[in-house]
Amino acid sequence: MDTREAADRPRPGRRRRGLAGLAAALLVAGTLPLITAPAAQALANGLAKTPQLGWNDWNAFGCDVSAALVEQTADAMIANGMRKAGYQYVNIDDCWMTHDRDAAGNLVPDPVKFPDGIKAVADYVHAKGLKLGIYEDAGTATCAGYPGSLGHEKQDAASFASWGVDYLKYDNCNNAGNSGTQQNIDRYSAMRDALAATNRPILYSLCEWGEFQPWTWGPQVGNSWRTTGDISDGYGSMLSIFQTNVWLYPYAGPGAWNDPDMLEVGNGHMTTAEYQAEFSLWAAMNAPLIAGADLRHLSAADLAIYTNTDVIAVNQDSLAKQAVPVAAGGKPAGNNGLWVLSKPLAGGDRAVVLFNSTGASATFGATAAEAGLPKADDYQLKDLWAHTTTETAGAINATVPGHSVVMYRVSAGKVGSNVGPSVTLNESSVDGAAPGRPITVTETFTNNGRTAVKQADLKLSAPAGWTVTATGPTRFTNVSTGSTVTTRFTVTAPTPTTPIETDTLTATASYLWRNQQGTATTSQQAALVSPVQAPYSTYSSATDAPAQYGQVGDDFAVNGAGQDVWSSNDNYSAIYRSGVVGTNATVETTVTSATGFGGYAKAGIMVRNSMTAAGSGPEGIILYVSPSGGIQMEWNSDGNPYIDSVTPDNGSIPSTVPVHLRLVRAGASYTGYYSKDGQTWTAIGTVTVPGQAATQDAGLFVVSASSGAQALITYHGLTVS
Ligand code: GLA
Repeated sequence: MDTREAADRPRPGRRRRGLAGLAAALLVAGTLPLITAPAAQALANGLAKTPQLGWNDWNAFGCDVSAALVEQTADAMIANGMRKAGYQYVNIDDCWMTHDRDAAGNLVPDPVKFPDGIKAVADYVHAKGLKLGIYEDAGTATCAGYPGSLGHEKQDAASFASWGVDYLKYDNCNNAGNSGTQQNIDRYSAMRDALAATNRPILYSLCEWGEFQPWTWGPQVGNSWRTTGDISDGYGSMLSIFQTNVWLYPYAGPGAWNDPDMLEVGNGHMTTAEYQAEFSLWAAMNAPLIAGADLRHLSAADLAIYTNTDVIAVNQDSLAKQAVPVAAGGKPAGNNGLWVLSKPLAGGDRAVVLFNSTGASATFGATAAEAGLPKADDYQLKDLWAHTTTETAGAINATVPGHSVVMYRVSAGKVGSNVGPSVTLNESSVDGAAPGRPITVTETFTNNGRTAVKQADLKLSAPAGWTVTATGPTRFTNVSTGSTVTTRFTVTAPTPTTPIETDTLTATASYLWRNQQGTATTSQQAALVSPVQAPYSTYSSATDAPAQYGQVGDDFAVNGAGQDVWSSNDNYSAIYRSGVVGTNATVETTVTSATGFGGYAKAGIMVRNSMTAAGSGPEGIILYVSPSGGIQMEWNSDGNPYIDSVTPDNGSIPSTVPVHLRLVRAGASYTGYYSKDGQTWTAIGTVTVPGQAATQDAGLFVVSASSGAQALITYHGLTVS
């Protein structure tokens, strides 16, 4: 269960996102002396000379922390190889204590969750060769409402030290009006001094959410500082945090790290490529690598990410420099969502991350000179995810799918003769492919290597029903260093058999280098649409990517993007019927499948006065399923920027598809129900929504909450009775 989405708990990450964004905007605008910031003196506790590696329960378990969980996690980290890979800290987050201090004013571990206290857990963890972390707050209460340390710093630090705690995450909720740059410095310094007075080395992790530029004062106060609001397990959240944290590189150094929050790898709502992106970016930004998943039950793919020791080595490199965003080809860094990060490493190598933050595949990169490498005849590119090695004469490029990274370790002039050339293969977009309408797909193949490429064969394959015809030569006898060859194909799509049919088109280049065989492939998906028929209409207020809508009989599909329908966002894509909801009406659908659906994405029923009147905040009511919050209803009862939500009485229902949804209107009140089998219905709640017209529109909506990338949702039925 994700406690952050429960009705009674605000979603702090979202409220704070504005501040983080502001800080980033100021930095980009150059209002802060970004590049010239003096190297700040780090906290002299001798800890975190390289970024801390460990685990924390919050992202996966919220308040469901316990001694058993912590001890089982320590065991899991040993059994699954994470301890060996360098993970050291096992950290307890919020909700570990009772609501009251004892008579002597001491914090009291929850006797149910920690029956033998914290010291017993510390002893257990220490015996396993690991270290224990704990959580407190620089206010009167923690974010979940347990006693805070403001005014109790010495006593609480002494408790932590006496229990054998090695790490403190110190949060920023309930600061009793003590907020501002100096106030925050003071509140966080009080605990620093209290920790120092215990004489126990305790790593000090500031969780101030980037409110008052902690990167400017954090180095003297703590070993790391959060730079943004809370992360959530969704691509949009990860991306927005990256975009703030990446610019803070001048402030990081040994013992003093920018902290873009704990990792979501393994929590299930991003793709493997997106989790590899998160891990690579965090590693390159010298972020603390704090695993945030249930380590007892990791998939092989997620464990392979957490234990990629080549990527961890980049993070733990002794030069201890955060990666710098590179301006490549005369364009500003991050131009068009295509990021090149370069991180200098001890011994002269560089780690170069090519991050394609957009929804579509792209070929891009930087020259060795732009990435800060010394001049050389040839460079070795070690691909840290594909585990392959190639050579380049200077272009550090790759074809990177959307939401993905390629991460290289680049060495100047150390290339063996058995290393093949780095090549890229690009396939132009098939967006707009429609049944029976021919379009052109261009394949572009480039040899970046010093080594010659011969006999290059370019092919394009598509599923049965498509026709693919090359319009020119597909074989090239010589592709010399730095040169590019192209082939155009005329491609015609078949008539789809479902509302939106997605087919994969794969480009392949096979070639020879020094008589060895090489192959490059790249693929993309074409979405074929069977158009929506009257009386149904379509509408989208999402501006980050276009929407697609399909219908075959009572089956519908919407492929839409959009940041959210929440707070000041009103971005959705919908198939709807106008004016069908009177003051007594029942709207039903079944959400039958969801693809590209992660984090705060939402899909379900939307009822509002006008489906085409998206404004600056949600209107009407939505009944939906979301990976983060499960099944719930949201509406706005008072016009303030924060949205009311209700989850079922029997507790939060995790996201599940297929799910049947039913929304019943009686005047100004709306009752939501869900069913997993279409037989047994469970009420979610009855709510009153102000300002609803006598006649309203009913729609099937989606928001992807994943910048520039759509979520594809299929529905069965949109009945109104
Ligand atoms: C805040 C922090 C989170 C987590 C929770 C616990 O939101 O930023 O990382 O510690 O509090 O309540």
